[in-house]
Amino acid sequence: MDTQPTLPRRSLFRHPLAAFGGALFVAGAFVFAILFLIDMTSGSDNPYSALVTFVIAPAVITIGAILFLFAVYFQVRAARKRGEHVRFSLRIDPSDPTYMRNLWLFLGFSAVLILVVSYSGYRAYEATDSVAFCGKTCHTVMEPQYVTYLNSPHARVPCVECHIGPGASFFVRSKIDGTRQLFATAFNTYSRPIQTPVHNLRPAQETCERCHWPKQFWGDKYTTHTYYRTDEANSPYTISMLVKVGGGNPRTGKLEGIHWHMIASSKVEYIATDPKRQIIPWVRTISPGGDTTVYKDPNAKYPDPNDPKTEIRRFDCMDCHNRPSHKFLAPATALNLALSSGTISTKLPYIRQVGLDVLNAPYLKTDQAVAAISEKLTAYYQEKYPDVAKDRGAEIAQAIATIQTIYKENFFPEMKTDYRARENNLSHFVNDGCFRCHDQVKVNDKGEKIRSDCFTCHLIVAQGPSEDLTKLTSNIAGLEFQHPEDIGDAWKESKCTECHTPESGY
Ligand code: HEC
Ligand code: HEC
Ligand code: HEC
Ligand code: HEC
Ligand code: HEC
Ligand code: HEC
Repeated sequence: MDTQPTLPRRSLFRHPLAAFGGALFVAGAFVFAILFLIDMTSGSDNPYSALVTFVIAPAVITIGAILFLFAVYFQVRAARKRGEHVRFSLRIDPSDPTYMRNLWLFLGFSAVLILVVSYSGYRAYEATDSVAFCGKTCHTVMEPQYVTYLNSPHARVPCVECHIGPGASFFVRSKIDGTRQLFATAFNTYSRPIQTPVHNLRPAQETCERCHWPKQFWGDKYTTHTYYRTDEANSPYTISMLVKVGGGNPRTGKLEGIHWHMIASSKVEYIATDPKRQIIPWVRTISPGGDTTVYKDPNAKYPDPNDPKTEIRRFDCMDCHNRPSHKFLAPATALNLALSSGTISTKLPYIRQVGLDVLNAPYLKTDQAVAAISEKLTAYYQEKYPDVAKDRGAEIAQAIATIQTIYKENFFPEMKTDYRARENNLSHFVNDGCFRCHDQVKVNDKGEKIRSDCFTCHLIVAQGPSEDLTKLTSNIAGLEFQHPEDIGDAWKESKCTECHTPESGY
């Protein structure tokens, strides 16, 4: 006979917190199960559903479980205070069926919890590192970078390869930073455009050089650019050149050329006086033997290089290749490419100029721009060239479609991001790029300048007013540059960007 006074059995769920926690747990598990099934069967990598399935649903389940455990703790404590006997130990007592049932339930739920949370952790890790997650979750915010990325030579290189790289410490940093960015997106506090340069970008040695190591730079790269003038005939002008991309490997050639800056044993450093690193009044080279040469602008003001607080930046891949995967083409460049590939007909009078005007006009939204491009081009040909509008309707329609695509791929008014906000340092034509240092201003103690003659970096091997290579003046040993428009010696004396401004399409 049982002599102990039997207390009425009380369900743990009587406590409101326990009921709430339990309900959360069950609801979360139910939602997770359904979403998980959808995930398994659909095979899509939608970043939103990954976020809900593997971050939000498991979080709800875990919160439910934690609330439930708290409620148990409160109830046990309260009961003990009342002097009741509560059996709560880890001793297994097979003689009490209720106790055993509860134990099994507890173990069962814990197993579910551990399974869901650990699998989700793995999937969340995978999902938050995916291109779709980085590029699409915060739709408008990342759109400029995502769209340009898809059009870049790195479209198959995951974002994290350049933005995070290997190793646990950068992984943790990136997730902390990512959480901050999620809040900035949720509360709409991010800047438009996103500020560049990216200051905490990982050094190129740990990202780019894992795929492009300096020793593999060799030879020259042959490129041809065809330009179209802003006259009625959209007259072509072609320049072909050999870009001296070599530099790093004594087994494949001399240690010279553009990637000379990157040979591990020599070092170039600089001080920039603006946040975008466009104005560089001070440069120092350190040779493998340790000899240093300083080139400075005699008329510029800049912080004292000997002051430890001054930021002296080591010149690396990103100082030239700052747009390896987010290149916002200048409208003139994009139009030249379309005209030369034939997606815009050169037979449409002034199309180069009109295209530039519609692309460069201020717009608030992409839709507005797309509509305006169509209206303005149609109106232009109907008013100024009614015959062309009649005979070349299909070419006009194709030009409109192409210019709209150019706009959508390179202009992002919602984020105030386009070529004007994103300097490209790889040349000296649209932005100063190489000419930030290779100018005729900075001198060393001996009065020498950094080399800036046109043969230093490339050889112009063919040029002339035609699209047809065979009609150009050519010489494999290099030609003196001929400026397409007669401007005398102005191109020798001033930087290209002094005339080729954003208003002119560059
Ligand atoms: C080949 C390497 C590479 C890949 C791949 C890459 N990025 Fe970048 N990204 C860069 C570099 C380099 C910069 C720094 C530009 C600077 O500091 O001026 C940058 C800058 C950015 C910026 C700052 C804004 C800007 O325009 O400079 C954002 C945002 C960004 N990347 C997002 C992404 C996303 C999203 C992906 C994947 C869809 C991605 N990146 C893939 C190299 C890469
Ligand atoms: C995961 C490997 C990988 C990483 C990391 C990587 N790249 Fe690349 N890169 C590639 C591949 C693949 C190509 C395409 C090669 C081709 O087209 O022949 C490429 C092409 C290029 C090109 C030639 C583009 C052209 O227009 O012809 C440049 C320049 C370049 N990468 C620079 C960089 C820079 C700078 C970084 C670091 C910010 C970087 N890459 C990081 C794999 C990578
Ligand atoms: C001084 C500026 C500068 C620096 C620094 C620099 N590059 Fe380049 N790189 C260039 C130029 C200019 C080209 C030719 C671009 C073109 O013609 O499209 C080029 C071409 C390339 C190419 C394509 C080569 C080919 O044969 O087509 C790759 C890949 C590349 N760079 C990667 C890198 C990496 C990785 C680093 C850092 C280790 C780096 N570059 C540092 C200026 C630079
Ligand atoms: C931060 C300043 C800086 C920038 C930016 C810069 N360079 Fe240089 N570069 C130097 C210095 C300093 C030297 C060595 C002095 C000299 O050769 O007159 C040099 C030397 C060179 C050389 C000669 C290497 C040799 O000895 O064969 C080439 C080629 C070159 N740079 C190409 C470029 C190109 C292309 C760009 C732009 C994409 C560029 N540089 C941007 C500082 C810079
Ligand atoms: C410090 C290196 C350097 C020097 C000096 C230099 N260039 Fe360049 N130039 C470049 C690079 C890098 C590019 C980009 C190559 C490419 O587009 O593939 C370029 C591109 C060009 C282009 C094509 C522009 C475009 O984007 O369509 C022309 C034209 C040109 N250079 C002419 C000149 C002339 C003329 C001089 C002498 C006044 C000169 N360059 C001096 C590095 C240099
Ligand atoms: C004094 C002003 C001035 C300077 C400096 C200048 N240009 Fe030009 N450039 C012009 C004018 C004007 C045109 C004709 C534009 C047109 O037809 O729409 C032109 C046209 C061009 C074109 C034909 C492409 C086009 O869009 O019309 C190229 C290529 C070019 N310049 C290259 C250069 C290079 C490279 C440099 C620097 C080495 C340079 N220019 C410096 C004024 C200048």
